[in-house]
Amino acid sequence: TRVLRVALLGCGTVGRQVAGTLLDKAEDLAAKAGCHLELIGIAVRNVNKPREGIPPELLTDDAAGLVANGGADIVIELIGGIDPPRELIVSAITHGASVVTANKALLAAHGEEIYAAAEKNRVDIYFEAAVAGAIPIVRPLRESLVGDEIRSVMGIVNGTTNYILDKMTNDHQDFEEALATAQQLGYAEQDPTADVEGYDAAAKAAILAGLAFHSPVSGSDVFREGITSVSTADIEAARASDCVVKLLAIAKIDEHDRISVRVHPAMVPYSHPLAMVNGPYNAIFVEAANAGRLMFMGPGAGGSPTASAVTGDLVTVARNRMRGVVGPAHSVYQAHQLAPMGET
Ligand code: HSE
Repeated sequence: TRVLRVALLGCGTVGRQVAGTLLDKAEDLAAKAGCHLELIGIAVRNVNKPREGIPPELLTDDAAGLVANGGADIVIELIGGIDPPRELIVSAITHGASVVTANKALLAAHGEEIYAAAEKNRVDIYFEAAVAGAIPIVRPLRESLVGDEIRSVMGIVNGTTNYILDKMTNDHQDFEEALATAQQLGYAEQDPTADVEGYDAAAKAAILAGLAFHSPVSGSDVFREGITSVSTADIEAARASDCVVKLLAIAKIDEHDRISVRVHPAMVPYSHPLAMVNGPYNAIFVEAANAGRLMFMGPGAGGSPTASAVTGDLVTVARNRMRGVVGPAHSVYQAHQLAPMGET
């Protein structure tokens, strides 16, 4: 059997799970991919930190060296943030490696540069885990629905804020109490800014809009309002009109081919399918000219769900590589205008 060499950048909650799958489920992955996937190294910040189940000889603190000199066929980036992942991914691509990443912030800010580099070097860039964790939504937009015309993509793409709003609705907690609960349970981070101010959702909305409308959309194009000013009075007013408050990401295209992308709290009627998406779950509601209405729902975060999406991408890029093909490009062909921010 042929062997493809895999380098892993980052060994946090998701990275550990992906490494574990590569090491413990090697035969199963080989059968699915049609080749053996050999984990050649894992780049981490601290090589001396003990990591259960990970052979210490795989660890290195030289991510750039692993990417440039390791001879990897596939690089999996799970570090997060813009730098150093931006340079590492571009380096991986220029060295001819296919890339799998979960990095929404990077793709929302520098997606065009990265997609163009992958296209030029004829390698894959797959990022199913960057939007809504385990939920397949990137491939449905990029492949299954590509023959259709997407009209809108609307969703709950941040589990932390969905959990907080749930607590406010069901347990009558105010925002601060609900945030503290979410932090105790490990849903919200100690610095919850990216979630509660809507930056995480805006990055995901930008990626979804780019895919849905074949246009370059970046996180800074997204109108953004988080949930920090949602009050218990807002929650009660919603309840009084048979609605629930959700943080929605909404990407639409109008009859003049103008795109608007926004993230803000919204009143969702009980009768809408998004109203029943609870706790840390995510859901994305897509309307297409021919397919009609579709909803994709499931766990949007967490180690195992996110690792599921990353591993799916890994097997897919391995299959492509074995056959000497690359997957679908990030097709950008529409000269859409972005509507002024906040305009519907
Ligand atoms: N913090 C995000 C969420 C998960 O709560 O949904 C990672 O994007």
